[in-house]
Amino acid sequence: MKKILALNLKMNFDYKDIKNYVVALNDNLKASDIIVLPPMLFLPYFISQNYKIGAQNISEFDNGAYTGEVSCSQLKSIGVAYALIGHSERRQYQCENDDKINSKIKKALENGLKVIFCIGETKEEREMLKTSKVLKKEIVDGLKGIDENNLKNVIIAYEPIWSIGTGIIPTNKDIVDTTKFIIDTAVKVFNYKPKVLYGGSVNEKNIAELNKINEISGFLVGGASLDVKKVLKMKEVVEK
Ligand code: 13P
Repeated sequence: MKKILALNLKMNFDYKDIKNYVVALNDNLKASDIIVLPPMLFLPYFISQNYKIGAQNISEFDNGAYTGEVSCSQLKSIGVAYALIGHSERRQYQCENDDKINSKIKKALENGLKVIFCIGETKEEREMLKTSKVLKKEIVDGLKGIDENNLKNVIIAYEPIWSIGTGIIPTNKDIVDTTKFIIDTAVKVFNYKPKVLYGGSVNEKNIAELNKINEISGFLVGGASLDVKKVLKMKEVVEK
C-alpha cells in the first residue's frame, strides 16, 4: 500500500523561502498522499496550492481571550485538514502534558480535523527498557474519552525522541515490534486499529529501506522535508 509522507517544516523558513518552496514543489505534491505541516503563519500559501495541509499546533479552546493561539475552527475555515498533536518538542518546550494533549485531540476531532498524534520514548527510557510503558501511557492518556468512531480520524506517529534530528534510527525490526505494540495497545484499550507513521531522521537515503516495513502506514519527516529535492526523492519511494 502507498505510504503517507507528512512533512513537518517546524519553525523554519521566512516568507521568501516559503514562496520558493511552494514554487519548487509546484504541481508535484498535488493528488498524492503528502501532508505539509508548515509554520502557522504560512498556511495560506499552501492552502491556495491545494496541498493536503496540517497545522503544527492547535488550541484546545474554542475561541475568545487566548492571546497568541489559533483555534481549530479558524484552521478549518481556511481549509486545514490535519492537526499535529503531542509532538515531543511541544511536550518538552511548551510543557504539554498528556491531559492537555488529550484536550487538544478532542477539540481537533470535534472540529472535523484529522489528528496526527505523536508519541515516543527518550533515550533514557529506552535504555531502562521502559519504551512499552511510556508508549502505553501516552496512548491511554492521550486518547481517553474518545469514542471509536472519532478514533478513526487519529493517526499515531511513533517518533522515538532519541532519533529526532540525530541521524540515528531504530532497526526495521525495532520499528516493526514497536508498531505492533502500538497497534495492539490501541486495539485492546480502545478497540481501534490505528495507522502508524514512523518519524525520526527519515531522509531521502534511508527511506527506501524503511519503506519495506509493512506495519507502518507512512512517515513523519522533519529536517529532510526542508529540501524540495529530498522531498521529491522520498515521494518517489513511497509512491512506488
Ligand atoms: P527529523 O526528521 O528532523 O528527525 O524530525 C522528525 C520529526 O520530529 C518530525 O515531526
